[in-house]
Amino acid sequence: MKEMEKNQRFTITSALPYTNGPIHIGHLAGAYLPADIYARYKRLCENDVAFICGSDEHGVAISIKAKQEGNSIKSVIDKYHNLIKETFESFGISFDNYARTSDSIHHETSKDFFKKLDKKGLFEIKTTKQLYDENENQFLADRYVVGECPKCGHKHAYGDQCENCGASLSPNDLINPKSRLSGSKPILKETKHWYLPLGNYEQFLTEWILKGKKDLWKSNVYGQVKSWIGQGLESRAISRDLDWGIPIPRDDAKGKVMYVWFDAPIGYISSTKEWAKRNNKNWEDYWKKPDTRLIHFIGKDNIVFHCIIFPSILKAHGEFILPDNVPANEFLNLEGEKISTSKNWAIWLHEYLQDFENMQDSLRYTLTVNCPENKDNDFTWKDFQSRNNNELVAILGNYINRVFVLTEKYFDNVVPEYEKIDSDQLLKIYNYVSSISNSLDKFKFRDSVNQLIDLARTGNKYLAEKEPWKLYKENNISKVEQILYISLETCALLSILSEPFIPNSAKKIREIFNIKLIPWTKLSSEKKIIEPGNKIKKSNLIFRKIEDDEIQNQLNKLNLNIKN
Ligand code: MF3
Ligand code: ZN
Repeated sequence: MKEMEKNQRFTITSALPYTNGPIHIGHLAGAYLPADIYARYKRLCENDVAFICGSDEHGVAISIKAKQEGNSIKSVIDKYHNLIKETFESFGISFDNYARTSDSIHHETSKDFFKKLDKKGLFEIKTTKQLYDENENQFLADRYVVGECPKCGHKHAYGDQCENCGASLSPNDLINPKSRLSGSKPILKETKHWYLPLGNYEQFLTEWILKGKKDLWKSNVYGQVKSWIGQGLESRAISRDLDWGIPIPRDDAKGKVMYVWFDAPIGYISSTKEWAKRNNKNWEDYWKKPDTRLIHFIGKDNIVFHCIIFPSILKAHGEFILPDNVPANEFLNLEGEKISTSKNWAIWLHEYLQDFENMQDSLRYTLTVNCPENKDNDFTWKDFQSRNNNELVAILGNYINRVFVLTEKYFDNVVPEYEKIDSDQLLKIYNYVSSISNSLDKFKFRDSVNQLIDLARTGNKYLAEKEPWKLYKENNISKVEQILYISLETCALLSILSEPFIPNSAKKIREIFNIKLIPWTKLSSEKKIIEPGNKIKKSNLIFRKIEDDEIQNQLNKLNLNIKN
C-alpha cells in the first residue's frame, strides 16, 4: 500500500456565504460538503488542517435585502449569520473557524492589504462616468441596477452579472438600465475609483495556471481560466460609492468603500488570524509558508475571483502563497430546474432539518453521490429516497445489522477468537483504505463514496458466499468464527472510512464497537481494529427508511406536479 501523506499543512477554505438569506442544498453540495469531507479526511491522515470559513457581510446584495425586509443592515446580517452558522453546525461541517467580514480584525486586514498595494503603486486611479440615481442621490453599483443583458438579451440582468447567461458585466454595459432603488432611469455622472489592472497579471497567470496546472486542476476550472485569460483581462474597479462596506483607507476617498470581492477573499485570512489567536498558532504559517497547501472550495460562479482576481491580489502583495488547487464544482439543479432563491425553487437546509430530524447523513450522502463535480447535476426527491433506502439502508445499514445480529446469535455479542485469519478477504477490505484515499486526493468525491458503499457490498457478498448459518448448523464453529471476525472487522473499518462522509452514522457504529476514531495512517491489515474478546453493545438500526408520503410532502411543498 502507498504510504499515506501526513504531517502536511493545509489551509482549506469554503466560499464565504452572503448573509442575505439562508443556504440551500446547492450551496452545501457545491462548496461546503466536499470541503468538509476533504478536511476531515486530511485530519484523519494526521495532517495539520485549518478549515476556514465565515460570513460575507458586505456588498449590495445585503443592502438590498435590508431594504426589502425593512430592517437595518445589522439585523439582517446578524439574523442570517446566526442561521447559516447553526445550519453548518447541524450538518457537521467541521470548520475550525467561522468568522464575519464585519469583524474589526477583518476590516484591519483588508485595509492593510489595500495600503500595501497602494503604497507599491499597483492601483490605477481613473475618473469615469457611472450610473447615478438622481432621486436617491446615489451611484448605482453592481446589483443596484438592472437592465437588458448585452450578451444574451435577458431582460433582468444585474449590473455585475447576468444570471441567465453567466456573463460578468459592469453597470454601463446594460441596455435600458433602471435603478432598483427608485425605479428611475439613471444618469451618467463622473466619479473616481481605484482599479486593479489585471492585464499586468496576465503573464503571471499564464505561467502559473495555464502552463503549471494543466493536468493538476479540474478541467472545468482550467477551461474557464483559459477562456478568461484568452479574452484579455481588463482592469477591475475595487472601490465603490456606497455607504456599506470597508472604507478605502485614503484621505481622498471619502465615502468610498471596497468592492465586496476585494475584501471577501481576504476574509479567509482574517478568519485564519482569529482561529490562530484562539489556538495559539501562527496564522502566517498557513498563508505564507511555501510548503502549506491552500485549497479553495467554491462553486463555478466564483472561479474568476479565486483563480484570477484574488491570486493577483496575493501576488501583488508579495508575501502570500497561491492556491494549490481550486476544485470548483458546477451547479446542482433541483427537479430538473435551476435552483432559484427568488422563485423559492430550492431546498432550504434549515427546513430540511425540521422535516428530516437527525437525518443529516442521508442528505450528506445523497449530495456527495450526486455532487456536480464535472458537470451540472440534478437533485430529485425520488432519487434522494432511493439513495437512502436502496444504498444507505439496504446495503450499508443492512450489512452492519446482519453482522451484529449474527454475532449476537452465535457469540453473545463478543468478538470471536479465530484460529486463522482469512487473509484474502482481509487484504481485500484493507485495499479500500488506499483506493478511497486516492479518490479523495483527486477531489473525486463521488468515486470515493461509491467505493465506501462498495466495501459494504463486498462484505455482504462474502457473507452470502460463506453462509456461516449453514456452517453453524454443521457445528463448524471455527469456520464461523473466522467469517464473523472478518465481517466485524469490515464493519469497524466502515465506521472509520465513512467518517468524512456520514460522520454521525460513523460515530454510531463506533459506539456499538466501543472503539475510537483511528487515523487512516494507522490502519493496517496487520494491526487490525478489533480484538477477539471485545464486547459489542446491543445495536439499533443506523439508518431509517424514507416513506413515499414524506417524499410526496416535499414535492407538494415544491408545488411540483409530476406527470406520469
Ligand atoms: N459570497 C460569495 C458568494 O456567495 C462568495 C465569497 S467567497 C470569498 O458567491 F472568497 F469572497 F470569500
Ligand atoms: Zn445574459
